[in-house]
Amino acid sequence: MPHLDEISKQVLEKIPDFHKDNSAYKSYDKKFFEEIEILKESVETLKPWNEIFDVAVVSTKHNSKLPIHVDYGPIEKTKYSLNIPVYNCEKTYTVFYKIKEGAQFEKKSAGINYYNGYKESDVEEIDRIYLNKAAFFNTQVPHSAINPTDEPRIILTIRSDKPWKELN
Ligand SMILES: [Fe+2]
Repeated sequence: MPHLDEISKQVLEKIPDFHKDNSAYKSYDKKFFEEIEILKESVETLKPWNEIFDVAVVSTKHNSKLPIHVDYGPIEKTKYSLNIPVYNCEKTYTVFYKIKEGAQFEKKSAGINYYNGYKESDVEEIDRIYLNKAAFFNTQVPHSAINPTDEPRIILTIRSDKPWKELN
């Protein structure tokens, strides 16, 4: 994605300080982010901005991890997320897991959003990814964000109603 450093900088300046001290998935009005023209332009190299239905900030507090989860919601809306690093993504990472046979999930809520959560003993790590550039994530593979640093980790997740072209 072009102009990534500049995008990260402008997003960080615009979002509330809340994200620096809280682990959260928080959606903002698309219009809120539209003002960051460079972000809108860069996303539009991949798809029209009007096909985006959710832009959210995901923050992970210092020295903590997000629950192991699968994003909840209609699969066509949540499956592929375009994730953009905003702050402290070089030494923090996302882990993907395989679910062990017979494992159960639990529907949990994080503010207004739901997710299906798994116990650590019910999963096995299959991959870990450092978000050092923008990347598509399949949010239907169980995952967690791990932040072993003393700073918050912040990313942007961009979701679309329609499949991203190259992932069809
Ligand atoms: Fe997630």
